[in-house]
Amino acid sequence: MATYEKHHCWSVLLRLFHWMFALSIVFLVTTGFYINNPWTNTMIEGSLSFPMATMRYIHYVAAYTFSAAVAIRLFLYIFGNAQERIWDILPFTKRNLNNLKMTLLQYSYISDKHDERLGHNILAGLAYLFTFIAAVIMVLSGFFMLYPEASFWQGWGVMLFGNQQFARFLHHLLMWWFMIFAVIHLYLCIWNDANEPEGLISSIFTGAKFKHKA
Ligand code: HEM
Ligand code: HEM
Repeated sequence: MATYEKHHCWSVLLRLFHWMFALSIVFLVTTGFYINNPWTNTMIEGSLSFPMATMRYIHYVAAYTFSAAVAIRLFLYIFGNAQERIWDILPFTKRNLNNLKMTLLQYSYISDKHDERLGHNILAGLAYLFTFIAAVIMVLSGFFMLYPEASFWQGWGVMLFGNQQFARFLHHLLMWWFMIFAVIHLYLCIWNDANEPEGLISSIFTGAKFKHKA
């Protein structure tokens, strides 16, 4: 007799956000490293080929995909399903505080108890929220660098970052968050999938998760 039942968890829009976000970051990080420190011989720039322009072009195409993904996530924080709304991951209720405590104990191997819930655990949810805020800063600093003379971006950019140099510094520094996050994220997704038969990894493809029958 089956002891688990299948529940719909993530909307198509959330899954679309996830893969637009994850894939664009791969391109943004690679081309970002190149923009920072071009590894080809710059003598060829503009003659036989134009690698810097190509890298910047890929960066901008990925940046628009990334910005659209950020807009989708903002929409879902407000209008998404019960698991996708921001209230589901904030440690403000007794249930969420308890989940945060249980997750910390389980992740540090102090306890084996797992708090079964359909949405993200609160620790993951907070890491995703922090990543979302970092993503908004990437978009703002990126567009400020892209359109330094457009009055809209100049206004926001100068107000938030002071000058181009600081925006670029912050843009570079935050890149490391996305790389570190991706490694820990993959590790924890696999760890959870191996320890709890909830179908966590497939949920980001299919939208469904498994829970014990009530
Ligand atoms: C996770 C997302 C992103 C990462 C990891 C990333 C990474 C980088 C890095 C490392 C650089 C080189 C800066 C340096 O000299 O150190 C850069 C430059 C730049 N990025 Fe991004 N970026 C991201 C998102 C965006 C977005 C959303 C935009 C929006 C348009 C953008 C626009 C730019 C621009 C305009 C430059 C400067 C290019 C130049 O100086 O020629 N980036 N990015
Ligand atoms: C093959 C690679 C990846 C797999 C299999 C994967 C898998 C997953 C899974 C299973 C979840 C849901 C986890 C949960 O309920 O807490 C998730 C969420 C998430 N992942 Fe990934 N992921 C991958 C790559 C990435 C990368 C590269 C990034 C960005 C650097 C990323 C960013 C996120 C974010 C922000 C969420 C939260 C979604 C939300 O806002 O609700 N993922 N991922």
